Amino acid sequence: MNILYHERSRTFHLYNDSVSYIMMIMKNGHLGQLYYGKHIRDKEDFSYLLEICERPMTSCVYENDGAFSLEHIRQEYPVFGTTDYRQPAVEVRQENGSRISDFTYQGHEITKGKPKLTGLPATYTESEEEAKTLTVTLKDEVTGIRAELFYTIFEQGGILARSVRLCNEGERPVRLTRVMSLSLDLPDCDYEWQQLSGCWARECHVRKRNLEQGIQSIGSMRGNSSHEQNPFLVLKRRNADERQGEVLGFSFIYSGNYRIQAEVDAHRTLRVLAGIDPETFEWKLNCGDSFQTPEAVMVYTDKGLNHMSQTFHKLYQKRLARGYWRDKTRPILNNNWEATYFDFTEERLVEIAKKAKECGVELFVLDDGWFGARSSDKAGLGDWVANPERLPGGVAQIAEKIEDMGMKFGLWFEPEMVNKDSDFYRKHPDWILSAPGRQTSHGRNQYVLDFSRKEVVDAVYVQISRILREAKISYIKWDMNRSITECYSKALPADRQGEVYHRYILGVYDLYERLTSEFPEILFESCASGGGRFDPGMLYYAPQAWTSDDSDAVERLKIQYGTSMCYPVSSMGTHVSVAPNHQVFRDTPLHTRANVAYFGTFGYELDLNKLTEEEQKEVKEQIAFMKKYREVLQFGTFYRLKSPFEGNETAWMVVSEDKKTALVGWYRVLNCVNGSYTRVRLEGLNPEYQYRNVNTGIRHYGDELMHAGLITSDETAGQVSGDAHHCTDFESRIYVLEGEEV
Ligand code: DGJ
Repeated sequence: MNILYHERSRTFHLYNDSVSYIMMIMKNGHLGQLYYGKHIRDKEDFSYLLEICERPMTSCVYENDGAFSLEHIRQEYPVFGTTDYRQPAVEVRQENGSRISDFTYQGHEITKGKPKLTGLPATYTESEEEAKTLTVTLKDEVTGIRAELFYTIFEQGGILARSVRLCNEGERPVRLTRVMSLSLDLPDCDYEWQQLSGCWARECHVRKRNLEQGIQSIGSMRGNSSHEQNPFLVLKRRNADERQGEVLGFSFIYSGNYRIQAEVDAHRTLRVLAGIDPETFEWKLNCGDSFQTPEAVMVYTDKGLNHMSQTFHKLYQKRLARGYWRDKTRPILNNNWEATYFDFTEERLVEIAKKAKECGVELFVLDDGWFGARSSDKAGLGDWVANPERLPGGVAQIAEKIEDMGMKFGLWFEPEMVNKDSDFYRKHPDWILSAPGRQTSHGRNQYVLDFSRKEVVDAVYVQISRILREAKISYIKWDMNRSITECYSKALPADRQGEVYHRYILGVYDLYERLTSEFPEILFESCASGGGRFDPGMLYYAPQAWTSDDSDAVERLKIQYGTSMCYPVSSMGTHVSVAPNHQVFRDTPLHTRANVAYFGTFGYELDLNKLTEEEQKEVKEQIAFMKKYREVLQFGTFYRLKSPFEGNETAWMVVSEDKKTALVGWYRVLNCVNGSYTRVRLEGLNPEYQYRNVNTGIRHYGDELMHAGLITSDETAGQVSGDAHHCTDFESRIYVLEGEEV
């Protein structure tokens, strides 16, 4: 890995074994983008890659140079208002009303490691040898705004992390109306666009389309990164698939409003932008102030989608997630939400917990409803004190009871919200986001606290930290159950209202930072009605997230498959819930519910007392199985094998680092009669190891399983007779493969 600067050609080359990123200082002082792709050998001059050709009827920067039109040049951080008519990366509104800027090269610095982004989540290094950072400084002379472009290249994987800082060194305040974290101009647009879309309880469905001239985008204006569009984009060559081919992944480490877009111009070049959503953002930058954007991460590979995902998984698992739980397998939990909803007493909880313990559960989580006057979603949010009728001895007593049983205790919070029917709101009615003279909309009867205000965050911190000090709490589920509306802060002047959405998220990060530093051993799970804020920003504080409020095993196939495009198995909250399922009323077999949930943090979202003895026995076996294999399941290398978006069968697998253990999950939605023979070609095994298929006892070489495949056909592929195991709809199997050198 290295970053080189060639003085004569004024070219930067950032590279490692996988990737090269090349740019140059152009004659107008802007940065031109030359190459991003598979690693190529370095040389002094790559400037021919800039491709400047004279085109008729274009506006040009220089007199007598009809070729130098920014409209036709691939750039690194394009500005608004001169000869480029595509969407810019940066826009600065000045006191005189002008939005034109012209950022030109001032200098650069190459440093070891990676600088921290204060107050923002970001990838990090543990030693200076893991990465190098290039900081290029540009300046707009008229406004005096200095722009620092940060590029970090990691030693491992085709990863580049990027962000931008703007500092006002001028004599007048300005308004930043757009500061994208990443801008990338590519020479062609022959990519398939792939996004993760959906809505509440149907998150992260893989959606694809071809790029066409014009702008295609995903984003959020909801105040959270959203169920609708995950802040993640894939551009893949049309011949690329899971196993091979060129793929680019773009991920934005942020939990608020964002936009990721691709603009194809008339000559089929492509501009990708990723950053805070410009529509809902405006930041006043006073003289001497600076603004740091969130970080965006790009991954390049020529080894297909699985390899791109594995690169993100490893980075986010090891160099984004932090702290005590980062490398630890996650406790198997029982959450009471779908078991009781708001209808519980301490006695009932203890009853559920006892059975959970008997089955092998390690952590009991008390969800919504334990505090204030919370007997429905109409009251109590904001009052983080135990409800005396439900928990007569407070949180401390129930926590102690659970601990005495030999389990850990976890608790639900929704720190950013209040109900109007709460003491907190009655005391501070002006602490919610709401615009003067306008009605304030609610969602689920709740209102959003103005987390852009420090005193609000402080007050919530005082309440939550008090409970965490008083009671033995090992886990927190941090929920967020509505999007933001009427985003106006009474604490900010008129000319700073455009900052509220971003300041809100900074407040959320601040509270997370305070709680996770003060209580480092508490495991945080983020949640926003399921996957409404399943984003890399959250993973920096909470190493796992509740993937979706849809806990049906069949629905989860698509949700988890899509989520795995960017996020590691160890980050996905996955639970076994009751059948018929509460969201889609589908009746799936207990083993299939577990077989899906194994590929995640694993837990139960039901009252195990209500299962039959036979089912309870099965649960005990499931938990024992998970305990045996969770290291591999959560931290092994994950491969998608068959897509639920493309057929009746889904398959995925994990392989341990030493390649001696592999687990394959195979799932079939509908049963069929006299069906096809089916097999799955496995991945990631050692071709020379011999693997014992624990299910069949048959031994196979790794190459055999990867090329001939693992046979998954069953009795339905022929005539079912006699005592044959009768498969149903929603059938699934886990194949365990134990390998050894021979
Ligand atoms: C939404 C979450 O996603 C659920 O799991 C549960 O915690 C409820 N909120 C509680 O209100």
